[in-house]
Amino acid sequence: MKEIIVKTTVKVYSVAELSEEFKELAQAALSASTTAYAPYSKFHVGAAVRLESGVIITGNNQENAAYPSGLCAERVALFYAGATYPGVAVRAIAIAAQTGGRQVDMITPCGACRQVLLETESRYGGHPMDVLLCGTEQVYIISGAASLLPLSFSGSDLGVTD
Ligand code: THU
Repeated sequence: MKEIIVKTTVKVYSVAELSEEFKELAQAALSASTTAYAPYSKFHVGAAVRLESGVIITGNNQENAAYPSGLCAERVALFYAGATYPGVAVRAIAIAAQTGGRQVDMITPCGACRQVLLETESRYGGHPMDVLLCGTEQVYIISGAASLLPLSFSGSDLGVTD
């Protein structure tokens, strides 16, 4: 028997410590959460994607009475980015959420969104994207979607190499 230890490095920043670029992205995510369509959960999530061109794309959760038909903010933003700028890599994504008119302390992407973050990263050559999880006081930054989903299933399991 041998053991494999899987590590994820999370850098914890105060909002004031963030670079101007990250502050702008975090702000865009929070602002996008204000127009989420979340009448069922009342949990309003915003995501802001920074492309390598510098462009910011935002998205928010879109719910549906048939619950599984809704989509998370991260995937709304990433799929829109992929559909509109298919050749442009994603460098970073910020996620923020609010409920009852208050920003939540911390938001972390669901498993399905992690899978899509990972695919987006590999789609553009595997360059690690910065994932910003925005809380009220702190922002967690994970460099590389791959470290959010260890032992993941990917295109290579289907024999697709790039
Ligand atoms: N949600 C997101 O949009 N992103 C996340 O990271 C977590 C959850 C949405 C899905 C659903 O509309 C609501 O939040 C409650 O789960």
